[in-house]
Amino acid sequence: MIKVLKKIAFLYVIKQLIVTFIESLQYAKKGGLRKAYHWFFVRNCVSIFGNGARYSSKKISNLTLQIRDDGFMELNKLSEKTVKNLVDYFLASQQQKYDDLKSFFDKHRVENYVRSEEVDVCLNNELCNSILKELNILPVVSEFLGLSEKEISIFAKIDALFKINGERNLRHGYDDALEFHRDIDSYRFVKAFSYLVDIEKGSGEHEVCIRSHKSLPLKLRLIKRYKYSTLKENLPHFELKSIFGKAGYSWIEDTTSFHRGTIPKMGDRLMLSLSFNDKKTADFMYDAGYYPLSKFKSNISI
Ligand SMILES: [Fe+2]
Repeated sequence: MIKVLKKIAFLYVIKQLIVTFIESLQYAKKGGLRKAYHWFFVRNCVSIFGNGARYSSKKISNLTLQIRDDGFMELNKLSEKTVKNLVDYFLASQQQKYDDLKSFFDKHRVENYVRSEEVDVCLNNELCNSILKELNILPVVSEFLGLSEKEISIFAKIDALFKINGERNLRHGYDDALEFHRDIDSYRFVKAFSYLVDIEKGSGEHEVCIRSHKSLPLKLRLIKRYKYSTLKENLPHFELKSIFGKAGYSWIEDTTSFHRGTIPKMGDRLMLSLSFNDKKTADFMYDAGYYPLSKFKSNISI
């Protein structure tokens, strides 16, 4: 029986190789040969063998021990002032003018999309510098990825999850990452998140399966969405952590662990997401939104 299941999982790997090859061909046709190669390499290598950061040969210390072991580690909180500045920046970036977050949430929830459009925070140097300084995240990211800051790119966005009342709409058929999945963003990468409003049970809390970035059976390594019951039955160690916290609460996560956002039932969510990626592969894979981390280094003392 186990032999048969292994054979089936192997066939799914072959299917993934074919699908990603076809996706790569689309990039190659548009002239992006390097993008095509990196897409195929990263999607398959990271999904099957895990985050390239795990294979970094550079020295590691206690600073990154927890994120390496658990896939999750708390960070310093963002200050009230920075949270307020981020909320103001988010509202000011909308096409329409809003006096406060409540009017933004109320206006958009009736559209029945759960996730909002995202706002690029990297366009505001001052805000980005404050975030990196308050989280004191750069030494952790650098050690975890085994890369110097010159070799890392950053992506930073704010988006919202709405508590909708009607039938849910999907934007371009996308599920808004509200099913369990593993991110496959670049060869080496890590993410950090900060809540920008208080998050209690039912307000779109983020969930992560602790330690699920390691020792996965082959059938859970494929690029797809997974059900709670599938993970519970098949993960060698199933420990689901629901993350709650006041505005400013922050953490870093190896998002090759299974994770998801949840559909808000009680209140709305506003969250900052930071993504740190190796420039070597990310520069070829993404056309916009990723910036050299060194761009934000000038005012930061670490
Ligand atoms: Fe994700």
